[in-house]
Amino acid sequence: MYSREIKERLQSMTIEEKARLCAGKDFWQTWGDEGSGIPPMLMTDGPSGLRKQTEATDHLGLNESNTAVCFPAGCALASSFDPDLAEAVGTEIGKLARAENVGVVLGPSINIKRSPLCGRSFEYYSEDPYVSGKIAVGFIKGIQNQGVGASPKHFLANNQEYYRQTSNSVVDEVTMREIYLPAFEMAVKDGKPWTVMCSYNRVNGTYACENSLYLTDILRSEWGFDGVVVTDWGACNDPVESLQAGLDLEMPGPARDNVRRIEEAVKDGKVKMEILDRAVGRVLDIQQRAAKQECMPAYDFELGHAAAQKAAEESAVLLKNEEQILPLKKEDKILFIGEYADKPRYQGGGSSHIHPYRVTSAKSAVADMENITFAQGYCDQGKNNDRLLREAAELAKYADKVVIFAGLPEYFESEGLDRNKMDMPEYQNHLICEVAKVNPNMVVVLHNGAPVTMPWVNQVKGILELYLAGEAAGEAAVRLLFGDVNPSGHLAETFPLRVEDTPVYPYYGREKEDIIYREGLLVGYRYYGTVKKETLFAFGHGLSYSEFRYSNLQLDRREMTDCETLHVSVDVENISDRTGKALVQIYVEPLHGVSVRPVRELRAFEKTELKSGEKKKIHIRLDRRAFAQWDKGLHDWYVPEGSYAIQIGASAEQILHTAEVKVKPKYLKKERFTINSPMGDFKKSPKAMKLMGQFFPHMQEQQDEDIEDEFMNKKALEATSNAMPLRAMLSFAPGLTYEMLEQLVEAVNREGE
Ligand code: BGC
Repeated sequence: MYSREIKERLQSMTIEEKARLCAGKDFWQTWGDEGSGIPPMLMTDGPSGLRKQTEATDHLGLNESNTAVCFPAGCALASSFDPDLAEAVGTEIGKLARAENVGVVLGPSINIKRSPLCGRSFEYYSEDPYVSGKIAVGFIKGIQNQGVGASPKHFLANNQEYYRQTSNSVVDEVTMREIYLPAFEMAVKDGKPWTVMCSYNRVNGTYACENSLYLTDILRSEWGFDGVVVTDWGACNDPVESLQAGLDLEMPGPARDNVRRIEEAVKDGKVKMEILDRAVGRVLDIQQRAAKQECMPAYDFELGHAAAQKAAEESAVLLKNEEQILPLKKEDKILFIGEYADKPRYQGGGSSHIHPYRVTSAKSAVADMENITFAQGYCDQGKNNDRLLREAAELAKYADKVVIFAGLPEYFESEGLDRNKMDMPEYQNHLICEVAKVNPNMVVVLHNGAPVTMPWVNQVKGILELYLAGEAAGEAAVRLLFGDVNPSGHLAETFPLRVEDTPVYPYYGREKEDIIYREGLLVGYRYYGTVKKETLFAFGHGLSYSEFRYSNLQLDRREMTDCETLHVSVDVENISDRTGKALVQIYVEPLHGVSVRPVRELRAFEKTELKSGEKKKIHIRLDRRAFAQWDKGLHDWYVPEGSYAIQIGASAEQILHTAEVKVKPKYLKKERFTINSPMGDFKKSPKAMKLMGQFFPHMQEQQDEDIEDEFMNKKALEATSNAMPLRAMLSFAPGLTYEMLEQLVEAVNREGE
């Protein structure tokens, strides 16, 4: 809640003064308030660095911005599976923001990767809400511990770029609660961000910016958010509707016409003064918080660069390492191929595009190593270049090992533009295949913001997924390749074999009006695992130069209620001669029920460093939410009674150990019947069966006789009758009336009998 000074100030402000504060002053700033002495506040883009613009402004990454350290993009950072690392990155961005007098950094970007084709996949964290939430919380804490606000975005269901400003995301309640809301829920509850940015699109028919269900009922009343809801840039549709729904600030400003509409609505009594006061109070509150951070320490760019390098190293995922081709040996005769070895692709396009401090390439990082030669291989301009290919293939013949730096060109993936295929450019795939023909000892280093197909996967021995690793991509790649750093990243998204295998393939990016989330809960690994579809690399997959053994999975109980916490422990041992980091992934699989559910879901993870021979016991707690499903009847979380498998996975597809626990909900869901309830459900209730016997004593016998007489296939008959609504009995049971049935249903539903 805002301060007493702000409360008092609200008493003396005019409607005009207040309304003006509901929109920005210009592209990046809010208005100050002279009366209370609160100065304007500056916001700038993140999330992979700080994009502070001092001259021409824009929200598409077109114009220049001040120099900033460029950190790994969200796709990479999430692969670290390390919230502390995300916090360290957030801290650096927060420090620079302080030095630049920025009040709020617009990030993290935490939309779920519904399809690998989303143009902004590089910026988002994961296809899994738990991973997204955990990384987001770290990042937010990092920024905010510097006295700068964060702004998780884009709330909500903004999962494609195609028609992103006007389309309508149609998402059912269960899917929304289990897939699209939880990362924001964690970010808000545990990260306590100063602001949340609502998205451009509509959600179930209403613009996100004017959707009171999400902006007020869920965000504030349920999750306790007390900060400012700010629009995405240009997202405001109707300022009066938005204000009433819980929006506080429209950006960019000055949005004079919208401000006038707010003034008039308050003057006409259409909007209550308390509602305007509430928004203005919140805006002034964060401005006051920002203004309290007086000192602006100088930013140490070298330290920032070192942090970016560490983040890149911890995030890279070793996808394949046959015959231990990696790490490379210092004495090997090595050929680096590819334009990206010289000019790495290290960041995505759009509003997160920043002006880097110092970009390092792999080529420059090995400049003093005489045994490494370089061939350009391709020109990142979209076609095969025979001369460069022949040159590279010729040199490859004489190398012990070849490393090709490949990936996606910037024009393939960017904010505002979804991809229409998952393939890398043909000239790169062709190059890899051709070089592999002359030298089988080949490693591919990938620079891309989203999954790609790999037609050459079986022709190369090593694959290191670097993603868009920030300005220190080159140094990080070299240290990983040579084993100065041991890879420890894991995929936070599935790499499907083909784009056609993705759950949303038939309709993703083809609809511009209603975007119907038909796949429901089956997003990413939740889909591939459930339908048992083979993938290229599974969610959670990631190799290391070390080898780990997981054993002794223990649960502290075999039975529990959903009010208790399950303590899980597992031993992890480094059975190699190298220090490395292991990731414990805990999945929960319900072993009961027939509802359409993902086969298993990630419910906890922990990354830990182990020296050679070291063994550690990792303790993890699973609370109610690890077992809960959203119940659309109750409009709440509910834990169905039954057994659950607790699984340790090397990935979502490779389960190493399983233990079982029985969970009973403390409060059993009371099923309510109507005369339209299916017979089968009715018969499952002991109370219903008892009362049915009392109400209609001879009906049961009569039915059983009929079965013997007329039908051979009892099973089919049973299924048919179970599917019948109760009212169908009226047609089959002579003497039964509608009123009698209603009385029965009422008696069954009555509490306490
Ligand atoms: C993007 C936001 C960004 C804003 C300001 C919008 O186009 O969707 O992520 O923060 O512009 O640049």
